[in-house]
Amino acid sequence: MFAALVTIATSVVFAVASPASSLDARAGAPIPVPIHPILNTSKCMGIVGGVYANGTQVDIFDCNDSASQNWAINGGTLPGLSSFSSTTTGTVTYCLDAGVPADYTDGVRMKIWKCFSGLAQQTWNKLESGQIQLANTNFCLDLTNGDTTNRNVLQIWTCTAGDTNQIWKIDSLQ
Ligand SMILES: *[C@@H]1O[C@H](CO)[C@@H](O)[C@H](O)[C@H]1NC(C)=O
Ligand SMILES: *[C@@H]1O[C@H](CO)[C@@H](O)[C@H](O)[C@H]1NC(C)=O
Ligand SMILES: *[C@@H]1O[C@H](CO)[C@@H](O)[C@H](O)[C@H]1NC(C)=O
Repeated sequence: MFAALVTIATSVVFAVASPASSLDARAGAPIPVPIHPILNTSKCMGIVGGVYANGTQVDIFDCNDSASQNWAINGGTLPGLSSFSSTTTGTVTYCLDAGVPADYTDGVRMKIWKCFSGLAQQTWNKLESGQIQLANTNFCLDLTNGDTTNRNVLQIWTCTAGDTNQIWKIDSLQ
């Protein structure tokens, strides 16, 4: 009698658990993943000091699996348009942001800003080459001076084929 009850209880748990996980999948929230410069894939794109605020710069640092080094690729597959967002529990979601489009030029430093759906400066085109191109521009996410030192702040630079400063490895996409 007791054993039978346990069996029923277990089935009920399974019956509830399966639809719940497919609902989560349908919600489509991408799992945040690290993004590495190809010049050293032990380094990760991260938020300086892990400070979630409008305007905090985006750098590379030794990978340490902190939230601020994990980016949701909102748009998924390669090639394709995405925003790259990072979030901590219960706070605003911040996106990789290239600043005001009128100011785009070689050397503009990258930062995070509150995410706004479809905002030009937060929309990036992931290319098969590994370049991450600012949508509708000829600027690419670029490891400043190709320097892999911790805290080197990222920039945009004119997209140049084969420039290793512009080649990134997104863990979920390769
Ligand atoms: C790559 O980064 C890791 C982590 O900081 C470091 O230990 C390693 O020496 C670096 N490799 C090169 C080739 O610089
Ligand atoms: C992990 O790296 C981030 C920079 O991406 C840094 O701010 C944070 O202090 C590091 N955390 C640890 C535990 O080293
Ligand atoms: C960040 O900037 C946006 C406007 O772009 C604003 O709505 C938001 O309140 C700001 N966040 C903070 C914490 O100041």
